[in-house]
Amino acid sequence: MKTLILSINDIRDIISEIGLNSLMDELIIRMERAIFEFDLDKTLVPAREGFEYHEPHSGLLEWMPLLQIGEQVTMKVVSYHPSNPAVQNIPTIVSSIGTFDVTNGHLVALADATFLTSFRTGAASAVASKVLGNPKSRTIGIIGCGAQAVTQLHALSRIFEFDHGLVYDVDPDASESMSKRAGFTDMEIEISTPEEILHYSDILCTTTSVGKGEGPVFNHTNHNPWLHINAVGSDFPGKFELPVSLLKKSLVCPDFLLQARKEGECQQLRGDEIGPDMVHLVQNRQKYYDARNQLSVFDSTGWAFEDKVAFDMFTEYAAKLDLGTSIQIESTISEDPKNPYEFINEVILQNC
Ligand SMILES: NC(=O)c1ccc[n+]([C@@H]2O[C@H](COP(=O)([O-])OP(=O)(O)OC[C@H]3O[C@@H](n4cnc5c(N)ncnc54)[C@H](O)[C@@H]3O)[C@@H](O)[C@H]2O)c1
Repeated sequence: MKTLILSINDIRDIISEIGLNSLMDELIIRMERAIFEFDLDKTLVPAREGFEYHEPHSGLLEWMPLLQIGEQVTMKVVSYHPSNPAVQNIPTIVSSIGTFDVTNGHLVALADATFLTSFRTGAASAVASKVLGNPKSRTIGIIGCGAQAVTQLHALSRIFEFDHGLVYDVDPDASESMSKRAGFTDMEIEISTPEEILHYSDILCTTTSVGKGEGPVFNHTNHNPWLHINAVGSDFPGKFELPVSLLKKSLVCPDFLLQARKEGECQQLRGDEIGPDMVHLVQNRQKYYDARNQLSVFDSTGWAFEDKVAFDMFTEYAAKLDLGTSIQIESTISEDPKNPYEFINEVILQNC
């Protein structure tokens, strides 16, 4: 009963074999299809839980479970430490993911989820923006130029023909390095102000690590009537990025309502001010056809189902390409399951 370990080196090998654009395109299609087929009687997803702490640095560690009834439990552990890039030169979001067999509890696979989280967060915005964004969108705005900004830009540029990107970050180094990190696109990327970005964007992604109670990250000034916003950074109680006056004028679609009301932009709204969730949106896309010409917000808090879809895609490619390492982690090698000491050498046992 071995466990497949999929490290970031294996994921890099999958990317070099299949191609980054092909994988992003495939993930967007897979995610859209999986959400279209999503069935509450087959898949249970509770809102995530976690610890918030302030020692030695402020951070969060959360667990995001998902049960496919009769099959598997997938569990992602995701941490958020906004001091990581400056203090340790590692990403703000560090994460791992595992799947467990519900017939016996065995850990089937374990993988990096730092890359996977950013990749699937981009894909999720692409799925929502396909329904809510104006197909003629040419200008994308980004407020908050960190890791998530890169995958938002990547995923959305696979769906829309942008010729212009406007970016802003409170950290000038982050705004200045954005065009280098967006080497996958040939669109022109220009540093701008939050208000200019709001004014000119057709699609806007907010991907900031703004602190609790420190939002919004831009003022509610003029914008295109068809503006679609992917609000990605609001994912904790008390943390939000958008002005409430703008939210109240928008069709606000949460990825996962239960969680968005606790952690997302939906915290700022009454129940009757919140629109359809992502499942309803994707399953009834014709009903929301006119939303492409109206102000809309995808309230992305990060849904465990998105992780599952991305994890499945990478484990399937690992199997196809014979990548990953299988190791025996659990104590399941004894002939007598009622003797937890049986696997230990007899000499060691006698000398204990
Ligand atoms: N919705 C999801 O599924 C999902 C997934 C992953 C991360 N996130 C969230 O997205 C946010 C960004 O994550 P990341 O990995 O890109 O972090 P990051 O640290 O790499 O980047 C965040 C950037 O935001 C900038 N910033 C902070 N406050 C700002 C403000 N007021 N205006 C403009 N820029 C500001 C920072 O300087 C930094 O460059 C975090 O809040 C994270 O929790 C959401």
